[in-house]
Amino acid sequence: MRPEPSPSDRITSNATLPISTGESMPMATEITQQTLAVNPATGAALVREYEAHTPRSKQLADRAQKIMPGGETRTITFHPPYPLTGDHGSGCRFTDVDGNVYYDLINNYTSLLHGHAHPVINAAVEKQLPKGTTFATALEAQTELGEILADRVASVDMVRYTNSGTEATMNAVRAARAFTGRELIVKMEGGYHGSFDDFEISVHPDLTLAGPPDEPTPVIDTRGVVHSTLREVLISPFNNVDALTRLFTQYGKDIAAIIIEPVMGAAGCIPADREFLHAAQNLARQHGALFIADEVMTFRLGYGGAQEHYGITPDLTTFAKIIGGGFPVGGFGGRTEVMSIFDARNPNAVYQSGTFNGNAITTVAGIAAMKLFPRDEVTRLNVLGDQLRDGLTRELSSHGVPGVTTGYGSMIGLHLVDGEVRNYRDGAGGNATFKRALHLALLLEGVFAAPRLMFCMSTPMNPEIVNDVIARFGRALDRTLA
Ligand SMILES: Cc1ncc(COP(=O)(O)O)c(C=O)c1O
Repeated sequence: MRPEPSPSDRITSNATLPISTGESMPMATEITQQTLAVNPATGAALVREYEAHTPRSKQLADRAQKIMPGGETRTITFHPPYPLTGDHGSGCRFTDVDGNVYYDLINNYTSLLHGHAHPVINAAVEKQLPKGTTFATALEAQTELGEILADRVASVDMVRYTNSGTEATMNAVRAARAFTGRELIVKMEGGYHGSFDDFEISVHPDLTLAGPPDEPTPVIDTRGVVHSTLREVLISPFNNVDALTRLFTQYGKDIAAIIIEPVMGAAGCIPADREFLHAAQNLARQHGALFIADEVMTFRLGYGGAQEHYGITPDLTTFAKIIGGGFPVGGFGGRTEVMSIFDARNPNAVYQSGTFNGNAITTVAGIAAMKLFPRDEVTRLNVLGDQLRDGLTRELSSHGVPGVTTGYGSMIGLHLVDGEVRNYRDGAGGNATFKRALHLALLLEGVFAAPRLMFCMSTPMNPEIVNDVIARFGRALDRTLA
């Protein structure tokens, strides 16, 4: 077991800054990272305009706050002063309760691959509804969806379902521990793999607590995570082969698995280097550990997931989001030898369960969603993503705002930093006040992006829509710089 880091405040603060506390406006004509700022009057005006634009959302947020802490049920969807309340959606747009229409560039954090209320997915669900929603039996649709996944993903022979990506990664790690008889897990600094203790380590670490860049100190991300988790999780910097090699040299015989998201979504859509993923795979193999690709978000990037693009063959792959056609879902799969540990015909089988695993609605919706995403659609969507990324980069540059765009294909990140973003720390800086103001300005321009400035594409989009989004982004920058 690795030595436990000293207990001094590992818990990072998630405190949010009110938008109106922005730094004062720079006097310099050329904006630099140091001088990028929001005029306090502009910040306050954006908040006022947002409130005037969304009075019914505000009213419902006040009511929601009395029954749900913060008026929310997902920490990630909160943003100050209050989040929108959605009403209905169609294709790549949705309407809030005040009647404002937005291009949806989050798509429920990448899960709504085909946008809102796709008629083919709706028809599949409507056909199933009168027949029942879930049974404590096997279902043909479970097998069919599994066959589709195994057909698309070369490394997957067999699958199991869960209700979320969190449960998928949790079970994949359990599988790795059971299969190898070891306990240590390696994850990347900045990597998010779901809301579960083993993975709530060093997702968004405060850099003052996170130790040296090439040998990060594991940091608990949220209060409530069991302190002993720090003994089970090793943290390595993304895209750093030497650091990972050192970790395996030191702890290799105790490592059950390494889990990597090929394009780190939560850290701001940071793509792995091909060499890094191959090195990680080789190190795992050399040391008898399993290599887990977390494709919960990145499965949309290739017909066979991001692993096809990178040419890797993980032992286990985790899925969620797009494979449920817009319904709650998760799944994991891999080679038969590993997945067989769950075979309930064996009295010693590893336990994995979930009341709604593979329910009829999710599986029929998932089958429809996958059939609507053949190779040429995957390519078209990735090209639309490239168009958006290029357009955002152009707008940043023409407005003189220092920043870079990242991602691959239909997943796009925007960082208000200088220089290349190849790991969590490269992208962790940036002016938080400017980011918040820009996010509000985007909402006022009818563009729904993640507050962390992440964007993703959906299949109802086309090049004209992307150009419209880029123009709105430019206007949002104008508003933020006013
Ligand atoms: C890479 C990755 N893994 C796991 C998860 C957890 O999935 P879920 O939110 O369905 O539990 C997420 C969620 O965003 C994710 O992005």
